[in-house]
Amino acid sequence: MSTYEAEIKRRRTFAIISHPDAGKTTLTEKFLLYGGAIAQAGQVKGKKNTRAATSDWMEIEKQRGISVTSSVMQFQYEGFCINILDTPGHQDFSEDTYRTLMAADSAVMVIDGAKGVEAQTRKLFKVCAMRDIPIFTFINKMDREARDPFELCEELEHELGIDTYAINWPIGCGKEFKGVYDRQNRKVIHFTSNTNARAATATQIEPDDPALAELIGEGRRDQLVDEIELLDGASCDFDLDRVRHGKLSPVFFGSALTNFGVEPFLEEFLRMTTAPLPRKAGEEVIDSFDKDFSAFVFKIQANMNKAHRDRIAFMRVVSGKFEADKEVYHLQGNKKIRLSRPQQLMAAEREMIEEAYAGDIIGVFDPGIFSIGDTLCAPGKKFRFDPIPTFAPEHFERIRSVDTMKRKQFLKGVEQIAQEGAIQIFKTPYSGMEEVIVGVVGTLQFDVLEYRLRAEYNVELYKEGLPFEYLRWIVKEDEDAPPRKEEDLLLPNDAKLVEDYKGNQLLLFASQWSIQWVTDRNKGLKLAEFGGAKF
Ligand code: G4P
Repeated sequence: MSTYEAEIKRRRTFAIISHPDAGKTTLTEKFLLYGGAIAQAGQVKGKKNTRAATSDWMEIEKQRGISVTSSVMQFQYEGFCINILDTPGHQDFSEDTYRTLMAADSAVMVIDGAKGVEAQTRKLFKVCAMRDIPIFTFINKMDREARDPFELCEELEHELGIDTYAINWPIGCGKEFKGVYDRQNRKVIHFTSNTNARAATATQIEPDDPALAELIGEGRRDQLVDEIELLDGASCDFDLDRVRHGKLSPVFFGSALTNFGVEPFLEEFLRMTTAPLPRKAGEEVIDSFDKDFSAFVFKIQANMNKAHRDRIAFMRVVSGKFEADKEVYHLQGNKKIRLSRPQQLMAAEREMIEEAYAGDIIGVFDPGIFSIGDTLCAPGKKFRFDPIPTFAPEHFERIRSVDTMKRKQFLKGVEQIAQEGAIQIFKTPYSGMEEVIVGVVGTLQFDVLEYRLRAEYNVELYKEGLPFEYLRWIVKEDEDAPPRKEEDLLLPNDAKLVEDYKGNQLLLFASQWSIQWVTDRNKGLKLAEFGGAKF
């Protein structure tokens, strides 16, 4: 195998998804710790008030009033080169969070054992499931009171519509957490609390060893034997192929904070996932091991450095090897270019790079030529990666400039910020150009928009919140079909027809109920939850 092939083969690029507070940061930190990328726990996220985050730039970004970011972390572990994509979760939840998932080949879903599936887990899961990427579940915080493990697995299956296979099984929880039963090796791994150690001390013992009752108590031992029997009888078989197609989620129980089960999880995860996956470009499939370089832009971040007003385009290398001094072809711009100041990110630290391989994420300086979804490939090639979908915003405001004389700057600013992908903008069929409806996935983007319009375009905003929470694209059956007219649609009072700036028609809804109402009463009307992409 050539070095080039070996380099690609050892890469794993994944996202960690969770509802806020489930333990995503803690788990990420433990991975980095095992990989030697950080020296001690607490470096990624300090105590609450000093969130001087390596993976979480939020505070820094917020101070600058800049669109908040998802970061990427690369580290080495037992021969693997691992790229973790961080998906911001708190107030900084945004469309970027979803788009980042487009760059991942698999996802780790962290669930709080006491809470189960939560709102943001559901949303992020849906985006991963859309591409059928493998999803691994880590049920966290078993050192605290947790819900019944059978119930948790059932909830995953029922709420998310994915089969589960428990790789290990917890023995008690909270103060009574005794460890896990490793189903594959048929061994009990006994837990002794050892916070912040590299790995929690684990003793392996066979389930029929009489010493087990001594270790975990007779009652627990009997319960475990019953549960294993139930599990073996009731659960579906483990099928790696179904895991790799996102149909079966391997479930692990553990505790990120105390390290318990984290390293075995990481090892199993690396064993079950694959090297970087191919991507579709229309009829073509671009394989990671293709000799020629290709990449797509999945995120653009403006003004990371205010003094320079720079924009960084983040791209996922799909195939081949990127070399800093080589020319590449930018399909959408129809130009050969040299990517300038290529860099890789270790969270807040940026490092200039000379080369990168399929699976890696690189950031390049963008003089304003890139858009989300753009394709870069070797000169002479001409394929276009399938577009990145547009995700439905959930919060809407009507905005206009306080000073009507500044209408032009206002529109220019709003359109430019929308082009970067932080916000989506709409107009109603009859509205003039004075006002715009803005839709965002996370409300922080409204503040960012207001700040940037003031700082960069000298425009003060008048804003009015709108009661909508859902957006659906009206699917055109054929390209030449005339646009729908409002009077031809049966809409309830809390739904509204809007248009985006590309001429797509969309409907805004205040409730899930009205989506159903509209679908039932308008025969032939097809609505889509994602825009611009075929799945
Ligand atoms: P997030 O990134 O998903 O938002 O979650 P994060 O890792 O920040 O964890 C949220 C809280 O849960 C943190 O406590 C963290 O210490 C705690 N936690 C994470 N994993 C475990 C676990 O396995 N067991 C227990 N008992 N707690 C866990 P915090 O008090 O909010 O923050 P901090 O003061 O510890 O920083």
